[in-house]
Amino acid sequence: MHFPSVFAALCVSGVVNAVAVNPLPAPTSVTWGTSGPRAFNGRNLALNGAPNNVVSDAWSRAYGAITSLHWVPQATEAPIATYAVFPTYTPSAKSKRGTTTLNSITVQVADSNAALQHGVDESYTISVPATGEVITITAKTTWGALHAFTTLQQLVISDGNGGLMIEQPVSISDAPLYPYRGIMIDSGRNFITLPKIYEQIDGMALSKLNVLHWHLDDAQSWPIQMASYPSMTLDAYSANEIYSAQNLRDVLSYATARGVRVIPEVDMPGHASSGWKQIDPSIVACADSWWSNDNWPLHTAVEPNPGQLEILNPKTYTAVQKVYSELSGIFTDNFFHVGGDELQTGCYNLSTITTAWFAANSSRNYDDLLQYWIDNALPIFTNTANTRNSKRQLMMWEDMVTAAPHANSVPKDIIMQTWNNGPFNIKTLTSAGYQVVVSSSDWFYLDCGFGGWVSNDPRYDVQVNPDEVDGNPNFNWGGNGGSWCAPYKTWQRIYDYDFASNLTKEEASLVLGVEAPLWSEQSDDTTISSKMWPRAAALAELSWSGNKNAAGENRVTELTQRILNFREYLVANGVAATPLMPKYCLQHPHACDLYYNQAAVV
Ligand SMILES: *[C@@H]1O[C@H](CO)[C@@H](O)[C@H](O)[C@H]1NC(C)=O
Ligand SMILES: *[C@@H]1O[C@H](CO)[C@@H](O)[C@H](O)[C@H]1NC(C)=O
Ligand SMILES: *[C@@H]1O[C@H](CO)[C@@H](O)[C@H](O)[C@H]1NC(C)=O
Repeated sequence: MHFPSVFAALCVSGVVNAVAVNPLPAPTSVTWGTSGPRAFNGRNLALNGAPNNVVSDAWSRAYGAITSLHWVPQATEAPIATYAVFPTYTPSAKSKRGTTTLNSITVQVADSNAALQHGVDESYTISVPATGEVITITAKTTWGALHAFTTLQQLVISDGNGGLMIEQPVSISDAPLYPYRGIMIDSGRNFITLPKIYEQIDGMALSKLNVLHWHLDDAQSWPIQMASYPSMTLDAYSANEIYSAQNLRDVLSYATARGVRVIPEVDMPGHASSGWKQIDPSIVACADSWWSNDNWPLHTAVEPNPGQLEILNPKTYTAVQKVYSELSGIFTDNFFHVGGDELQTGCYNLSTITTAWFAANSSRNYDDLLQYWIDNALPIFTNTANTRNSKRQLMMWEDMVTAAPHANSVPKDIIMQTWNNGPFNIKTLTSAGYQVVVSSSDWFYLDCGFGGWVSNDPRYDVQVNPDEVDGNPNFNWGGNGGSWCAPYKTWQRIYDYDFASNLTKEEASLVLGVEAPLWSEQSDDTTISSKMWPRAAALAELSWSGNKNAAGENRVTELTQRILNFREYLVANGVAATPLMPKYCLQHPHACDLYYNQAAVV
């Protein structure tokens, strides 16, 4: 792909005399000094107040990254003079460097006991003084202090001479726009090993994402070792692709140590076959039937393999209670996701108990069947005997309220995760009074655009350019070369999403935040990090400090150098993020812009 070279001529200014510091997500408020950096040696951590191992361990990690990487950001100054987005130092500024070294970090945490739960205060301040030896951090909670460290570790860079330095004076005051900033991993379609899950959490901590939604199982496999039903893991992919209770606890403690909540999901009553059918085949409808996409009247599943819980079988609820209760004893978050998406009515054509139920009363429809699920499953999910604590909040996919079929009445205190119809469904749900987490698939689905994955698909056997078939550029998004939700969502697509723009103030207050799912039909250890990163970092900034500058204008063009830098930083920290552009674009800011006009995106 070639663009007119007018841009290149403008941008090859040649002199690489500045080092940019550009942390991601951009802090809410930051003032930079202009007198040049000072030497840094922040080995000493002074914690004011109660001892706090989470804070001291986090500083050990940040300090370890600082000293082992001696990070050299690669972006140069913006060549467009009026568009200087980076605090930089120049050789002349360098000569003004102070003689004293910043030796210590003082951290003041107001409330060390605040638990890592939804809505906990994550704010922090950092002050790098012009004089003295101490960088001061304040935070309301442990979790804010952790965010301060991931900012600070991006500010301390190599001095080019074997030492470290940091801009000064710097004053940062920072807090997130949204309390819920998440990604979703799926270990049901393909297994993900613990080290790869840790890698995702590392990227999350660096970008200040705070929710890991873990879609534990799906129809294809059940990878969770269950004490209540040991037979469920007969439907794991192998003995090596199982999470023990200890594995789950290890992920939890790894995440908690980095300020990341883990919200488990057991998808029910749809997307349920593996594991459940080992408990008792009679609690799963249409398991292992032909999914029948080619003969639609017999269609039983959105994708292979079929299977949904038998909503009318009382034994289903015994199994659901034990599974939910056991997992609630492991996962400590107040939130628990109980699925609820994509119920396929055709599956229940193969269920004698369901067809008899409909035959007994011709007024019944599938909405009534889903209501039966809600009426019988919710009391299990909300019974404090089945949960760790009395603060359980349930999440569901929006389908239970917005899809056809949907339940007649779902309590308003259940948080809806919306993935269909973009802003339209956000409006529908919030205007109805539901709190929502926004995962609109046309913006935030990270698995899209890698082609349809089902086999024996004659739609790929096309000997002409698909565009020529009907003149429709979208023609090949289905089976003819695209996934159902193609195209691929780029970092710009993610960042530009003004998901709350058409909401009233009251509706907007019901948006808890955002989450980017990475469904794993086509992902496992080998691809998860490159599909997740650095795109999840665009979502991170969108939800931390937003996609607008102080004037209320879209700042995606400003994000360019920041996310390119951050991608390099992720890789340096062991997160296998994919490159977004030729590295040339990182080293020549704006050379790779599509438009010269820096206000082209509004
Ligand atoms: C299920 O059975 C009904 C009634 O027999 C029929 O109309 C329908 O086509 C079948 N399949 C699906 C997918 O609903
Ligand atoms: C038949 O189903 C309808 C719709 O759910 C319900 O209103 C009605 O009470 C049912 N009748 C009987 C006799 O169960
Ligand atoms: C907001 O509403 C306007 C007018 O109805 C519409 O044109 C626009 O597409 C909507 N934007 C979003 C993000 O929903």
